[in-house]
Amino acid sequence: MKYEKIVVKTELPGPISKKIIGIDEKFVSHSYTRDYGMVAKRGEGAFVEDPDGNVFLDFSAGIAVCSTGHCHPEIVEVIRKQSQELIHMSGTDFYYETQVMLAEKISKIVPIENSSSDNPVMSFFGNSGAEAIEAVIKIARSHTHRSRMLAFIGAFHGRTMGALSLNGSKIRHHEHFHPLVPGVVHAPYAYCKRCPYGAHYPGCKLECFDFIKKTLMTKIISPEDISCVIMEAVQGEGGYVVPPVEFVKAMRDLTREHGILLAIDEVQSGMGRTGKMFAIEHFGVKPDIMAIAKGIASGLPLSITCASREVMNWKPGAHASTFGGNPVACAAANKTIELLENGILENVNATGAYLKSKLEAMQNKYEFIGDVRGLGLMLAIEIVDNKKDFNPDAELRDRILHAAFAKGLIILGCGPNSVRFAPPLIVTKVHIDMVCEVLESVFEGLKK
Ligand SMILES: Cc1ncc(COP(=O)(O)O)c(C=O)c1O
Repeated sequence: MKYEKIVVKTELPGPISKKIIGIDEKFVSHSYTRDYGMVAKRGEGAFVEDPDGNVFLDFSAGIAVCSTGHCHPEIVEVIRKQSQELIHMSGTDFYYETQVMLAEKISKIVPIENSSSDNPVMSFFGNSGAEAIEAVIKIARSHTHRSRMLAFIGAFHGRTMGALSLNGSKIRHHEHFHPLVPGVVHAPYAYCKRCPYGAHYPGCKLECFDFIKKTLMTKIISPEDISCVIMEAVQGEGGYVVPPVEFVKAMRDLTREHGILLAIDEVQSGMGRTGKMFAIEHFGVKPDIMAIAKGIASGLPLSITCASREVMNWKPGAHASTFGGNPVACAAANKTIELLENGILENVNATGAYLKSKLEAMQNKYEFIGDVRGLGLMLAIEIVDNKKDFNPDAELRDRILHAAFAKGLIILGCGPNSVRFAPPLIVTKVHIDMVCEVLESVFEGLKK
């Protein structure tokens, strides 16, 4: 079956979908946050079909995971081949080639400070973004013998207790779960559109950085106690916020000066999503530790935490995961990287620029689009009451998500009041034209 366009032929959700949602409601954890009733049955490229035969254009990619598109034939083939040969062995106790090959490849593509052939980039394998962050915390503590961490407001790093301790995006993530890992301090992120210091970028004095250096690190937390500063190169759940290059560079210099490790969470922004293999490459900075997950294996569960051999100097037994770096997931990751390097990255730059220009044109037309931002195919629009007052309008954002779904477009929110566009990285300009057509009709409908 080749999908080419959106087809909505039942009310949404359709009758079969409704039945599935009914069973889910009874038996599946209510902690999940489903914005609308999308039940996925089959996916191909940028499209997903539901059990009622409705075909949706997917600009969420399973939350930025299906990097090469749904069920890319070459990914399906390596999964098939690998699963006929070896499904599991556990890299914690044994060796297998797909994992070793992946680690070698990662050492070539991940930018890590002071890495060289004598101090190569090493990989620790897990299954999820949160697991990658747990490894970041343990590597940072074990290398520096310091316990504290600095994270950012607006950040999202996962839901396990360590990763959760670093989050700063939604109170629901924290509520009733304390005590968390102690010693974390959160600083405001460099969110220029809503600068907490009332400054305007460009032209500001980088007050966000000054606050960390001159206030936090002199009054609240000693830099001598900080094992790592952890930040997303582009904040994901926080609203697809891109910080200024100067801020990221200044954080790199400050961490280096105090022997603090700089950890970059590329779980959402990595694997080509921003038009470079890793978002941090846009900033000309190399971190000491990097966390990767989501798009790495085109949909199979896999995460990697990387650091140089010198930094990842923990001892055998210090950390491991039974399933982490499973042979099938590693095979899919090797193929994903090959596909990204052979055309998909270029596609991200071309189609990302095209989508951004179309969203900017809509911003000129609609009073409630306060901002268009992002890099590559990690783009968002921020929904406000009007451009002058610039008050967040979360309710309107939610109405947009629902109305888009009703017209066969899958998009998700991010931050309190933004809509994110995180499509599979294989989307074409034709898909983008379809999305914009749906958006225009949704936006026109809001006026009524
Ligand atoms: C930047 C970032 N880090 C970590 C995570 C956690 O990943 P996972 O849900 O796979 O644990 C996410 C998930 O959205 C993320 O966006």
